[in-house]
Order: sequence, then C-alpha cells, then structure tokens
Amino acid sequence: MDKIVNDNRGIVEYYSHGLEDTAYLAQKIAERLNGGEVILLNGQLGAGKTTFTKCLAKSLGVKDTVTSPTFAFMKEYSGRLPLYHFDLYRVADEDELYELGLNEYLYMDGVCVIEWNKFEGVPDPIIIDVSTLDDSDNDCDRLFKVQGIDLNL
Ligand SMILES: Nc1ncnc2c1ncn2[C@@H]1O[C@H](COP(=O)(O)OP(=O)(O)OP(=O)(O)O)[C@@H](O)[C@H]1O
Ligand SMILES: [Mg+2]
Repeated sequence: MDKIVNDNRGIVEYYSHGLEDTAYLAQKIAERLNGGEVILLNGQLGAGKTTFTKCLAKSLGVKDTVTSPTFAFMKEYSGRLPLYHFDLYRVADEDELYELGLNEYLYMDGVCVIEWNKFEGVPDPIIIDVSTLDDSDNDCDRLFKVQGIDLNL
C-alpha cells in the first residue's frame, strides 16, 4: 500500500503502518508549525490521536512525558513552541470550555492539539482524521487524512 496519496482538494492521505510512520508524519507537521496553530484530531477511541500527539511533542522538543489529559481537559508542555494538549471527551459543550477559560489557549502563541473537540468555529484549523483500516491484516495500520497545512512528505 502506498504511504501517501495527495488529493486535489488539499487533503493528504497518509497511510501509517506503525509507530515509526506516525512519528514521521508528526515530525513533518511539527517542522511546519510556527505557533498559533490549532490541530483538531478526529477519530474513534484508540485510533491513535494521543499517540500522534506524543510524536508531535517529541518533534517539538518536549522532554516531559505526554499523558492523556482526560480529567484535566488540557495539559501544557514546553518545547520549541508551547504545546497545549486537550482531550475534551468529558466536556459537555463549548460553554463549559469558556467557563473554564480554556478558549484563551486558542489565541496564544503555542500549538493547540485537541482530541474530541467541542470548540465551535475554530479559525483556520489543521484537521487530522485518524482511522483504523478494517480490511487490513496489520493491527498497526492507520489512515491519517490531513488538511489545512502544506506538507512536503
Ligand atoms: N500506526 C499507528 N499509529 C498510531 N498508533 C498506533 C499505530 N499502530 C498501533 N497504534 C496503537 O494504537 C493505540 C492508539 O491509542 P491512543 O491512546 O493514541 O488512541 P486515541 O485516539 O488517543 O484514543 P482516545 O479517544 O481513547 O483518546 C496505541 O496503543 C498505539 O500504540
Ligand atoms: Mg487520546
């Protein structure tokens, strides 16, 4: 299976066959980040959103271990750029995010990575859809569909 399919609507389809491939994609994305970006990570439970975020953090020079922020909703890391990792699975709606003041991070100089997004109308997001491939023999196959960023893979 080819690893990369470029489609003419500006969506890159990247087939990862294991953690090394996911790390490669994360590195290519990290290289392009200047701060201020918001990355929306979509995909089912266990698809690989947090795993991708760990790879991205490493590529941004984050030394701390990235762990799922499920109960805190957001964890902040420092690297070449600040990284704000959100997991909004347990957040009811956007109002709750505003009450917690979490919306302010969208406009900071770091990079927001959001799993289970509940913000409405995020300006110019980078959107990454992660999915497993049902018809694959390899448990480690994933499809990453990336849009909103120019990638030179
Ligand atoms: N190619 C791959 N890329 C990413 N993760 C992979 C890959 N192959 C296997 N995995 C495994 O899939 C699992 C993905 O779990 P992860 O916690 O990243 O999912 P998630 O999308 O964040 O789920 P949740 O919605 O529960 O937060 C990990 O155990 C990871 O090692
Ligand atoms: Mg996760």
